[in-house]
Order: sequence, then C-alpha cells, then structure tokens
Amino acid sequence: MSEIRPIEWANGTLKFIDQTRLPLEEVIVEAHGYLEAVDAIKTMRVRGAPAIGVTAAYAVAMAAAELDSSNRDSFLQQLSAAGVEIKAARPTAVNLMWAVNRMIAVASSETDTSRIKDRLVTEAVLIEQEDEAINRLMGSHGKDLIPDGGSVLTHCNAGALATAAFGTAVGVIRASWEDGKRFKVFNTETRPFLQGARLTAWEFKKLGIPSTLVVDSAAGMLMHRGEIGCVITGADRIAANGDTANKIGTYTLAVLAKENGIPFYIAAPTSTVDLSLATGDQIEIEQRSQSEVTEFRGIQVAPEGVEALNPGFDVTPAKYVTAIITEAGVARPPYTESLNLAVRSANY
Ligand code: MRU
Repeated sequence: MSEIRPIEWANGTLKFIDQTRLPLEEVIVEAHGYLEAVDAIKTMRVRGAPAIGVTAAYAVAMAAAELDSSNRDSFLQQLSAAGVEIKAARPTAVNLMWAVNRMIAVASSETDTSRIKDRLVTEAVLIEQEDEAINRLMGSHGKDLIPDGGSVLTHCNAGALATAAFGTAVGVIRASWEDGKRFKVFNTETRPFLQGARLTAWEFKKLGIPSTLVVDSAAGMLMHRGEIGCVITGADRIAANGDTANKIGTYTLAVLAKENGIPFYIAAPTSTVDLSLATGDQIEIEQRSQSEVTEFRGIQVAPEGVEALNPGFDVTPAKYVTAIITEAGVARPPYTESLNLAVRSANY
C-alpha cells in the first residue's frame, strides 16, 4: 500500500502537498523560510491538527536557521518571538502550540549554542517520526472497535493528509481493514471546505478501501435507518473532561449517534489533549471567512451582501463520546481520570 506523506523535510527545505489543490492536482510546494510555513498553515495548504504541529516544528527549526546564534540570550528571545508568530497561525488545534512549546523548550535546554540549530532540526524530525508511530499505535488500539461486517462513518479529514502519515480516525479504519475485516465506510463531504469530499475520499481511493461520500445532512437519515454501525472522527483539541473540538458538524453527528444508540469514537494523539482547559467551553473556535459559505470556488452562490457565519469547529460535550483512542490506549469515561493517565503515560 503506498504511503501518503503530506510533509517532507529534505536538505533544509520543507516540502508539502498543497491540500487546497487536491484531488484534481497533486502539487508539491516548498516553504522557503518559516514565514512561508506559517502561510501554508494559515491558507490551509497544510491542515489537520497533527500535520499543523509537524509543520510548526519545522517552522521553528527554519526560524532558528535564519537567526544569529552567537549570543544565546538574544537568539532565544528572537526564537520565542517567532514561536509566538507561528502559534498565531490558527487558534483551535492545540498541536500547533504543543509543537512550538516543545521546540522552544529544546532550544532553551541546549547549553552548547553552536548545536542549537542542529538540535532543533533533529527534534522536528523526531516529532514527525513520532507522529506516524503514534498513529499506527492508535490504529492497533482502535481497530477492534469497528465491527466486522458493519459500517463506519467519518467526518472531515483525519487521514494521512492531516498527520505525518497514516492518519488518526482514518488510520483506525485502515488498521481494521488491513486486519482483514470488511465493513462499509461512509464519509461526509464536510462543508464548506470539503475536506471529506476532496481529501478523505481521495485517501480511501488510494488505500483501496471502498467508501461512499454523503452530504453532511444525510448522516441523520442513515443512522436512523440503521446503516451506520459507529462514528469515528479526529480532534483538534480535547479538554481535560473529554469535551472535544473538531470540524464543524462533529457535534451534530455525536448527538445523532447518541439518539440512535450508535457508538461515537474520537481518535487523537495525547498532544491534542489540553489538560490546562477544564472544559470545552474554554476552547477558542476559529471563525473563517464568510466567502467560504457565500461562494463556491470563487462563484457567488448566495445573494449579494448576505450575512454568513462560518465557525470552523464545534465542541462535542464528553457525554456524547463513547471512547477516545490515543497512543496510550482507549480512554473511557470518566475522562478527567483516563485522559490524565493517558497524557502522563505518553510523557513527551
Ligand atoms: O480545518 P482543518 O481541515 O484543519 O480541520 C481538521 C479537522 O477538524 C480534523 O478532524 C482534525 O484536525 C483531526 S486530524 C487528524
């Protein structure tokens, strides 16, 4: 099976698949300098919580490469300022902040100034490699949750494109499929940015896993008819109590799943868990441009001047989440205990 790797570090250059051009074109773009990496995150040419984290780690390494490291204090000060800029690229996925904080901590712990730049590249490569290993672990922890002969629905894109490789929710589906189980896969189109239609459907095709694309609003009807055995999505930030921010529409799916007696799973690395937030009410939700709703690929579809609201994410209260699959195992309620344990046992 060919691996999809959306981000590649080669000879000091960051290369990435431009996800805004998929599935019609597979274009690899180079980021020259950390500001171009920040721009790739802002414009969603790189997107998905873990992929944003990996890109941010390389952005810190690139920012360091641009600085004079002869004076350690001023180097660290300037690197922190770049870190603040990188963290501001998008607000909801905490993997971005997690990766930058980890990189800055490595820089601060290095006493030999001449080694700082190399150490940062090594750390960013490690974060990328760890992410793939973590996703494969989540796959093996979660694969038995998908029933043989049943069906699964996923939302947005929580596949290889959203990570270093393999994916989170899609990784669990893939691991189950590779285990020999056979089930029906549904994926939502995910309005308005169409991560499901453009990216997840593309990934399933590459993986050779048959999938059926449905409009977001068909999910309730399919659940009511008994056509969905379980739902599995990724996450952008999980609060200490298990409340989970993910792509807009996730909350709707979770409530519908509960109403129809269907298990609702989240697959996410512990770097997505934000123990500093007690509940999901404190998660900042990205507000995106109105034009993503009023236009379709530059063509106006709503009346001129109409007001649109475009939140990029929503928060699913923990009471709707059956289990959270992390690299440390499958966490179940009460999440305040199980997530705390998962984060402590991962201990990066
Ligand atoms: O706005 P996006 O495309 O970055 O949103 C992505 C999602 O909501 C994903 O479900 C989430 O990041 C998990 S990715 C493994």
